[in-house]
Amino acid sequence: MTKRWIFSLLLVCLWVPAVANAQPKRDTPRGELLYSTHCIACHNAKIHWRNKKIAKDWTGLKAQVRRWQGIQGLVWSDNDVAEVARYLNARYYHYPEHVQ
Ligand code: HEC
Repeated sequence: MTKRWIFSLLLVCLWVPAVANAQPKRDTPRGELLYSTHCIACHNAKIHWRNKKIAKDWTGLKAQVRRWQGIQGLVWSDNDVAEVARYLNARYYHYPEHVQ
């Protein structure tokens, strides 16, 4: 009797985290995920709103993102570059986005 009870308890313990992990993580957009994984290590938010910004418009911002992923040898697709640029733009730069 007790054994069965322990066994059920064990099953519940194993099952609950499995279900929790199965939830897709939709709350973090890809651009943010990429940026926080690969880029945040050596610059904090300050770098994106200092006075002498290098990225002066949307095209410049994309160029900087491309440059930085290149420096790290990440081989991001155009889409990844755009996603990260979009994330940074929404967060710090607020440049008008136009199709290139
Ligand atoms: C090795 C440290 C380092 C890493 C890793 C790094 N950065 Fe940077 N980043 C810097 C420094 C230092 C500057 C400012 C000087 C410069 O641009 O050369 C900068 C500047 C920038 C700028 C321009 C900021 C401005 O002036 O408007 C952008 C955009 C940027 N980084 C994006 C990224 C992205 C995207 C990644 C990840 C792929 C990344 N960085 C990874 C160090 C780093």
